[in-house]
Amino acid sequence: MKDQITSRDEIEGAVHHDLRHDSAIKHVTGRAEYCDDIAEPVGTLHAYLGVSNVTHAAIRSLDLSAVRDAPGVIGVLTAADIPGANDISPTGRNDEPVFPTDRIEFHGQPLFAVVAETRDAARRAAELAQMEIEALPHALDPVAAIDAGYPHVTDPLKLERGDVAAGFAGAAHRLQGRLNVGGQDHMYLEGHISFAIPGEDDDVVVHCSTQHPSEAQHMVAHVLGVPSNAVTVNVRRMGGGFGGKESQMNLFACVAALAAKKWNRPVKIRPDRDQDMTATGKRHDFVIDYDVAFDDSGRIQAVESQFAARCGWSSDLSGPVTDRALFHADNAYFYPHVRLTSRPMKTNTVSNTAFRGFGGPQGVVAAERMIEEIAYRLGKDPLEVRKANFYGDEGRDLTPYHQQVTDNILERLVGELETSADYQGRRKDILAFNTANRFIKRGIALTPVKFGISFTATHYNQAGSLIHVYSDGSIHLNHGGTEMGQGLNTKVAQVVADAFQVDVSRIKITKTTTEKVPNTSATAASSGSDLNGMAALDAAQQIKARLVGFAAEHWGVSETEVAFLPNAVRVGTEVMGFDALIKAAYMARVHLSAAGFYKTPDIHWDRAAGKGRPFYYYAYGASCSEVSVDTLSGEYKVERTDILHDVGRSLNPVLDRGQVEGAFIQGMGWLTTEELWWDDAGRLRTHAPSTYKIPLASDAPRIFNVDLAQWSVNPERTIKRSKAVGEPPFMLGISVLEALSMAVASVADYRECPRLDAPATPERVLMAVERLRGAV
Ligand code: MTE
Ligand code: HPA
Ligand code: MOS
Repeated sequence: MKDQITSRDEIEGAVHHDLRHDSAIKHVTGRAEYCDDIAEPVGTLHAYLGVSNVTHAAIRSLDLSAVRDAPGVIGVLTAADIPGANDISPTGRNDEPVFPTDRIEFHGQPLFAVVAETRDAARRAAELAQMEIEALPHALDPVAAIDAGYPHVTDPLKLERGDVAAGFAGAAHRLQGRLNVGGQDHMYLEGHISFAIPGEDDDVVVHCSTQHPSEAQHMVAHVLGVPSNAVTVNVRRMGGGFGGKESQMNLFACVAALAAKKWNRPVKIRPDRDQDMTATGKRHDFVIDYDVAFDDSGRIQAVESQFAARCGWSSDLSGPVTDRALFHADNAYFYPHVRLTSRPMKTNTVSNTAFRGFGGPQGVVAAERMIEEIAYRLGKDPLEVRKANFYGDEGRDLTPYHQQVTDNILERLVGELETSADYQGRRKDILAFNTANRFIKRGIALTPVKFGISFTATHYNQAGSLIHVYSDGSIHLNHGGTEMGQGLNTKVAQVVADAFQVDVSRIKITKTTTEKVPNTSATAASSGSDLNGMAALDAAQQIKARLVGFAAEHWGVSETEVAFLPNAVRVGTEVMGFDALIKAAYMARVHLSAAGFYKTPDIHWDRAAGKGRPFYYYAYGASCSEVSVDTLSGEYKVERTDILHDVGRSLNPVLDRGQVEGAFIQGMGWLTTEELWWDDAGRLRTHAPSTYKIPLASDAPRIFNVDLAQWSVNPERTIKRSKAVGEPPFMLGISVLEALSMAVASVADYRECPRLDAPATPERVLMAVERLRGAV
């Protein structure tokens, strides 16, 4: 039975080593299969959404006869065609109908779907609806909504610690301000899409571009009025999600499934880019009012802030998003006395949703604005003020939500970056440059990030997996996470390869499907590899334990004498190939499949009390950016960015670096050129790449040095002591905003904080320059 084999030193794709994304070649050669590439069965129909052309109105009548009569049309779907619940609210608040019946709540709201033989026919017919409405006054932004007495879409959160009144009373300095932080479109390369194939009885299979297959499954079942076991949702990969497919796919999955069951034919729905941008939610923009007290050294004594957010017409995920803004309103800084409140405002706009950082970035920008304000008021380098306020030892280690910061590595990380980027030397040079140059001004800023890892909804922090080892020794890996480009499947495969000590090429990565792993959480909150890596490891260990038990008994050795070597197994003194062991185990009727499970330990959160340990740990990072600004036009360029980011012991450094680079650029885009603009009538006028400017390759920093903190190890027992990487580096983009601020401040000799709102478009930069120069 045993064959002698020579074992290599190390498996291919070992953890902590670079391994390219499993689909990298398929991505760049166009062979990666997305939802729209799945071969369409004969008879496939196409759906398209018909949307409102008013912003807020009572619906008197909706006449779809011209739509029905249009060429190629099979029929229409309205609220009346929904056999189950007309609701796709992801939090069970019952405030989000698939199609409204009596009220239009935003411009571009989906009102019905038309189903036709071709997508083109459906799209043309969708324009033909006739409506009678009674227009109502609208409120588009959070300030207008507050003024109009609009409700909160969900309960506000309050975080409080210390004695805020006393903190303000005893302070040497105090200042107040308001910061507007814009939203952001996800601009995933692949837009929303769902493709439903009806089956017998109640069954339906939905291929859906989603970060949250279990929720799509649950929603389709809820809307069809069938149990979840009738609905299967599959996703092999997304062409990007960035939070935009955590809940917003529900509409498309449900419309495709409703139509597929109604006409008993496969139905696909794919909005064009303009409709994707107008009909689906984005990052929340915020209006943040802050009041901060501090001493002569710049140390903060008390903070009171309100965070009002444009949530849109329904709650969607606005509750947890606005909560997370408060959880990050401290960023890396200790506030001795603090009160933070959220105001999740209903508005007559599309319902805003998850987007990388999930509200956290908006909180962090507010913290950094306060630091800037303090620095300019005291005439100090903002970095000095940052350092003076870092979390520290006992007495300075409690967050506004009463979680103790025990793993703080920022001082070291920021110190290292300050040196490697030569912050001090370059700042001196820049100050001199600005004195010598009249129109081109430079700025530099070094900003830190601390980001809490875990879903704040504690029950979300669980994951499952399913591993089969086939009798030929090949391995089939499934877990509840979804692949959206971040490389989750590669990392989880590395974990499993490491557990069995086999080459990663032996492991088949398969689509995510609700049939294999049930009740999964969204792949979100950066937790994909933390949760699914652990669940996969659990399954692998179960199978390994059975193999060890079998080998010990079969070959008469003790279990401690069975060891997994690279692509081989040692049993006593003999070494055999992995395949040979599996074959023998199969012949002896050993169970070679296992379902794994994981839940994050040691976390708890009492929202009503505003206290707990919502986060298992923190991920840290820092970036230093230098910009040059043409003060005659407001145009600017990022000259150089240096980043040092903490991913614990990286599962895969090259993928993690990719995440850090991409997140920085996306964060920079959010704060600089990506502007969402609604006209007074409530129409989003920036609804295509022609008017909405994401960063181009040419916008990347001219010099871009990205490093991972090699020495960092997660103190918690995470998968291989790694840390989550997906969202935290998004906030590294803030160094660009602060560097722009310094360049602008230079025109008035740094006497005043420029109070740049985000996005700091060239237009806003120019206006700030003009204001400081006293021109307006
Ligand atoms: N990277 C790519 N390429 N595409 C994406 O859509 N989404 C981000 C981040 N990185 C995203 C990405 C967001 S919002 C999250 S929450 C995480 O990836 C989710 O994946 P993870 O938990 O496996 O890191
Ligand atoms: N982060 C991201 N997505 C989420 C969260 C969170 O904390 N909670 C619910 N969905
Ligand atoms: Mo990411 S916003 O948590 O999908």
